[in-house]
Amino acid sequence: MSNLNELFRLPLEEFGERLNAVLSPAHAIKSPEFLQGRDTQLMDVRQSLAMKGRHVFIHGFRGVGKTSLAYTAANLIQSPEKQPIYVQCSPDGTITSLVHDIVKQALPSDPTQAKVINESSKSGGLGLWKFNLSAGMRSTIEQGKLPKPDSINDAVELLCFAMERHSKRPVVIIDEFDHMPKSEHIHVDLLIKKLAEVDNLPLKIIMCGIGETLESLFAAHLSTYRYFHTIKLDRLDLGSCGLIVLKALEALDVKIDSTTGWRITRISDGFPHFVHLLCEKILWAMYNDPKRGFLNTGFVELEHYRTGTSTAVHSASEELRKGYDDAVRKYSKNAEVILWAAADDHELRRKSADMYGSYRRIMKANGQDPATSNLPANDWRCRTLTESQFRARIYNLCKDKYGQILSGNGRGWYEYTEKMMRGYARLKAESEGIELYPDHPLEPKRANALLEYMTRERLGS
Ligand SMILES: Nc1ncnc2c1ncn2[C@@H]1O[C@H](COP(=O)(O)OP(=O)(O)O)[C@@H](O)[C@H]1O
Ligand SMILES: [Mg+2]
Repeated sequence: MSNLNELFRLPLEEFGERLNAVLSPAHAIKSPEFLQGRDTQLMDVRQSLAMKGRHVFIHGFRGVGKTSLAYTAANLIQSPEKQPIYVQCSPDGTITSLVHDIVKQALPSDPTQAKVINESSKSGGLGLWKFNLSAGMRSTIEQGKLPKPDSINDAVELLCFAMERHSKRPVVIIDEFDHMPKSEHIHVDLLIKKLAEVDNLPLKIIMCGIGETLESLFAAHLSTYRYFHTIKLDRLDLGSCGLIVLKALEALDVKIDSTTGWRITRISDGFPHFVHLLCEKILWAMYNDPKRGFLNTGFVELEHYRTGTSTAVHSASEELRKGYDDAVRKYSKNAEVILWAAADDHELRRKSADMYGSYRRIMKANGQDPATSNLPANDWRCRTLTESQFRARIYNLCKDKYGQILSGNGRGWYEYTEKMMRGYARLKAESEGIELYPDHPLEPKRANALLEYMTRERLGS
């Protein structure tokens, strides 16, 4: 137990550093030992990029782990003399600014070094460099400035020049492609096509973007598709979410019972961000616990779990919290229980009748008699909605006025517009003591995957 004693007696900042070494709620994962449950996809990215002229496009919901997969793969593929290049698209971005951002990272900004780089390029005659620049761009580089490409041809020339000088096998991650204005897509398309025509260019591109389908991300049916292998990333399976908990706690010598571990993974809804966030907040709750009774057993206690979930709700991203609170506030408390009912299943899309089934179950477990409870009469627990009232409210939650928190398909199926919001709703429900199911309420409960993992880990098989 001495490791544990030592850990929880560390000064606050040092304790934080120990957490940062194993948990990353706000940062993408960059190395395979921390990337859980993505072995197949990682291999897929690496094998695709091993082929000449092929790039990779990773798409999926926000928060499923696109950037983490891209970064981990990039670190494995990039030749060791340099780091992969990482750029983010922005709503006011253009193809010129994108290329500029990439080249800025690839070439040194120091004019003396830039001159050296360029001079050695002049020795192209000796066969050292394959790609050279037009006179105008070359003199700009020699002055230690970065040229802004005026045309796609310039952009291609500049990229080839920079990539060849960056490293033997350069990898560029272009993240958040969904932020790139649609009007620029045609230029991106042309750039990729032209790059594909360049012989022996070692550049590998990994693009990431939020979107259920690739078609929803691209403005038009552009030929870019041909050069990209696409990977659709789904939510992380619960077993892998469980492993994030186990490995992080194990590294700190903290133990967790399987019920609590399982609850963390279930609430997180396949969004690893919430797993990291909950673990972080639980560990801080242990750190802040003045009694320190847990030092005798090494186990996370129920109180730490409870404090952890409620602090996680407060520190969830502002964007998620605001969207949820706005919808709930505009509607009265009843909206919140509807949002919980919408998240009461592993499937993202739910029929209103099933949601009503969940609602009834939640009401049965939590309903209160306004006469005997101290609750105000308009509290959600004091009044059970009829199915048609319930349906009318779901319908309203799809409207602009309520931030379109839900979306319907017009045939009685509903889903969260922002899938990560579902995870937040589950977290919120948990912090209010409402238990949601990961499975269909009518199906038998799935076997306890976390327990399986824990047993397997213990047996070391
Ligand atoms: N496979 C994984 N294993 C462990 N943690 C992960 C995994 N994928 C993502 N994460 C964590 O989840 C959070 C969101 O991941 P990120 O890659 O930023 O998602 P996205 O780019 O899809 O929005 C980050 O905190 C990251 O550390
Ligand atoms: Mg990302």
